[in-house]
Amino acid sequence: MSLLRHPVAIVAGSAGLGALLLANLVAIYRGMDLPWLLGVVLVADIVAVGVGVLVAAREVLVAERRIELSEARLEAIIDSAMDAVVTVDAAQNIVVFNRAAEQVFRCPRGEALGGSLERFLPERFRVRHHGHVEHFGRTGVTSRKMGDVMTLWGLRADGEEFPLEAAISQSGEPGRRYYTVILRDITLRKQGEDALRAQQRELRELSARVLEAREEEKTRIARELHDELGQLLTALKMDLAAIREKLTDPDLLEKARAMRALLDQTVASTRRISADLRPLMLDDLGLADAAGWLVQDFARRSGVACDARLAPAEALHAASKNVSTAVYRALQESLTNVARHSGAKRVWVLLEARDGAIHLEVEDDGRGIAPADLAKPRSLGLKGMRERFAYLGGALEIGAATRGGTRLRVRAPMQGKEGETAA
Ligand SMILES: Nc1ncnc2c1ncn2[C@@H]1O[C@H](COP(=O)(O)OP(=O)(O)O)[C@@H](O)[C@H]1O
Ligand SMILES: [Mg+2]
Repeated sequence: MSLLRHPVAIVAGSAGLGALLLANLVAIYRGMDLPWLLGVVLVADIVAVGVGVLVAAREVLVAERRIELSEARLEAIIDSAMDAVVTVDAAQNIVVFNRAAEQVFRCPRGEALGGSLERFLPERFRVRHHGHVEHFGRTGVTSRKMGDVMTLWGLRADGEEFPLEAAISQSGEPGRRYYTVILRDITLRKQGEDALRAQQRELRELSARVLEAREEEKTRIARELHDELGQLLTALKMDLAAIREKLTDPDLLEKARAMRALLDQTVASTRRISADLRPLMLDDLGLADAAGWLVQDFARRSGVACDARLAPAEALHAASKNVSTAVYRALQESLTNVARHSGAKRVWVLLEARDGAIHLEVEDDGRGIAPADLAKPRSLGLKGMRERFAYLGGALEIGAATRGGTRLRVRAPMQGKEGETAA
């Protein structure tokens, strides 16, 4: 605190000035009679004015020094900032350029100061940037993040472009406005993100290929079981019938009847195994019929009541083979989950075509699913489905159903969108 603002100094100064004023008044009225008083007052006035001037000059010096110190402190803070700090005036000429800015833009401060900000912007953004800053000045908002919707780009002195993240703030009054941009070079982060995204895409492609290969293998085995084994069994049945014609021994006849029953069972098992592997119906009749069959078969085998609303076959015809298979497998997996995990009494299935996409919903009234269930390391059913639909450009959601159980929702564009992730 300045010595002048000390209470004792204020009281003493005021008292001194009061006394001097009084002495002056007395000197004016009695000056003719007391000439010595005139002399003393004159000297006191001169001394007072001199002291006043000295004190004022000292105060100005102290204030200037204080401003200098605070500017130096601010500069040191700005210079030690990890982020680049660039301040421009209303004409967008640079007035502050900290050390981080020197590094980011690869340009010494002396070269940047006083110059236009434009040299640090790629040419294609210059006009737009100028407009944006002026618009920001007019809004009166004091600060905001820049480039919310898109990546911002800067230009280093050596001509290299780089992605950045920035916030802008303004200060000063209209006409003498300053804009300060605090920015960060995000090249490394962007490279990391791009690499991660590429890796995710590769993994997704790999998992889709693995699923596809598995599906093909299953189809091949299903066909062989159905066609080859089916035909052989039919031939056996015909041979057995021919032999039975010739048999007269009641024991042998009984044996032949048992053999026929066994053969019928084998045919039924073969059909079931083949259908579980891959319902040839899916290839021959399409998704709607195959889904209908799956729901009926599930209801019969599990005893869970099923309410199914399935789109007519024509509505789903446009679906590609991959999409049909994925939706069919999603239905199969969710019904299996209902039977294995939910303890539900009833399940609702909705399969429809809407806005060029297939939508499947499977809802149950069972015990519901907890977020931790989805993270079980050994459970791959739902994770696999999520990847599969993301790969097809669709999406999968799983959560609480309105009726209390679990609801699974799946969406996939009819033709799929291979390799693209869902938004
Ligand atoms: N309909 C459902 N009701 C209750 N819990 C479910 C349901 N579907 C899945 N879950 C839970 O989510 C977990 C993960 O399911 P999933 O990925 O299909 O793997 P898995 O069936 O092999 O366990 C299951 O273990 C189960 O705890
Ligand atoms: Mg499962």
